[in-house]
Amino acid sequence: MTVKTISTTAFNDQKPGTSGLRKKTRSFMVPHYLENYVAATFTAIGGGSGKSFVLGGDGRFFNREAIQTILKMAAAQGAARVIVGQGGLLSTPAASHLIRLNGADGGFILSASHNPGGIDADFGLKFNAANGGPASEALTARIYDATLAIESYDIAYVEDVNLDTVGQTRIGDMVIDVVDPVVDYSDLMASLFDFDAIRALFAGGFSMRFDAMHAVTGPYAHKILEGTLGAPEGTVVNGTPSEDFGKGHPDPNPIWAKDLMDLMLSEAAPDMGAASDGDGDRNMIVGKGTYVTPSDSLAILAANAHLAPAYRDGIAGIARSMPTSAAADRVADALGVPCFETPTGWKFFGTLLDADRVTICGEESAGTGSHHVREKDGLWAVLLWLNILAARDMTVAQVQADHWQRFGRNYYARHDYEAVESTRAEAMMTHLRGQLDTMAGQSFAGLTVTKADDFAYTDPVDGSTSAAQGIRLFFDGGARAVFRLSGTGTEGATIRLYLEQFVDDGDHAAPVEQVLEQVRKAALEVSDLPALTGRNTPDVIT
Ligand code: G6P
Ligand code: ZN
Repeated sequence: MTVKTISTTAFNDQKPGTSGLRKKTRSFMVPHYLENYVAATFTAIGGGSGKSFVLGGDGRFFNREAIQTILKMAAAQGAARVIVGQGGLLSTPAASHLIRLNGADGGFILSASHNPGGIDADFGLKFNAANGGPASEALTARIYDATLAIESYDIAYVEDVNLDTVGQTRIGDMVIDVVDPVVDYSDLMASLFDFDAIRALFAGGFSMRFDAMHAVTGPYAHKILEGTLGAPEGTVVNGTPSEDFGKGHPDPNPIWAKDLMDLMLSEAAPDMGAASDGDGDRNMIVGKGTYVTPSDSLAILAANAHLAPAYRDGIAGIARSMPTSAAADRVADALGVPCFETPTGWKFFGTLLDADRVTICGEESAGTGSHHVREKDGLWAVLLWLNILAARDMTVAQVQADHWQRFGRNYYARHDYEAVESTRAEAMMTHLRGQLDTMAGQSFAGLTVTKADDFAYTDPVDGSTSAAQGIRLFFDGGARAVFRLSGTGTEGATIRLYLEQFVDDGDHAAPVEQVLEQVRKAALEVSDLPALTGRNTPDVIT
């Protein structure tokens, strides 16, 4: 094996965001761009010598090329072993599981998650640590520092590796295990849930549509839902991963999974609809005629988890990201377990899960998961829902209505203003921050602010701190508005405005936009968003 040292110069835009480095695909294809970031990652973890890694991606354009590059760079580092998903495919939760199962030192996951794929769309690379979870803030900071200091990287000059045949091969001394991407993950799911009960549910005529959105969960859903659990063929749609996700936007929400939503709101709706994103960590749950918000889904799953074998003895605690609604907090209260409020990003759940302080975690951004891996997990959420429906013998709508009846309803929506000029978005955030000290007691659009702050977090396990994680405005009467800038966009700034209104007893079936109208008006008035950004309406409401 010939290893060459290639001179390079630093790129100044390789600061990882909420979930790794995410850029336009063409940026990643610029010579040295991917290599610099991979080399910086190796530097940040103290080199790859003697270590083992998991490697795979969601199959988007440039996935295979990137995998070949990373394999050759890992070999040049002297890595001992790399486990690669067949065809270069691994869902994010499956990669997390493989890292843990094999005691690997970490993993490279190639994905820009729910962002579109293709040469003119997005690509991404994230590194997960030995616990199977996203790199901590400290590690991402070290990676970023290394991207700025890089002058050269090492790479093996060898033929491309065959990724399509399961089995073992080598580059020099480095062993490469090409594995079936589904088998170990599917075994894990079978160990968590009552597969017999779910099988009986389908055998009894329960109907479902799972939309894999042309992304990575297709093979997983085909095998588990249609294969193992006996759902009729055709239950999984768009189940073959494609490089550009069928030119779609693989984000499981009512906007981007519109076909599924339309079906679920029609006469022809099956009993349950579900979808997952590009890399398989997000999920959407829909019942006949009713959409379950991710925040509600988290709360409902937490309240009913004991119905699944893996959680039979109860849960240790719940964690939710700050912008996620407080529905889960009420469940935690009722169960007598703690509920942690963390900054946006799955990485903040890692320490809590590792320390067994929480069992179930979730985010408003369509992510739910548990201690079975260290990532959110789309299919896991779908299977837990199925397990609950089977155990309770109720429909999705009945489970949801019953939940609101018991806990009250946190009406919730997120308004996204996309590709806003960064300086204008920053100006709006500055304008908000400038008012924080004086806001309490003031009224906007008829709502009085009870408390306002810029969310800061101290990790209760490792003591690390994260400041400026989003502006929270609490209003009289159980309303809340949160402003933050997305950390996953690739163009300009995306402003996220999260709106919430708690209704305890009373109408749990009112139109969401109607219930949230007052807090929306108040939020726009305080922030002066329309004037400062030039935007009058959000691009996406989820
Ligand atoms: C990724 C992360 C999530 C996070 C989401 C939203 O999916 O894995 O943990 O909630 O991005 O991030 P954003 O910064 O765009 O709101
Ligand atoms: Zn994702």
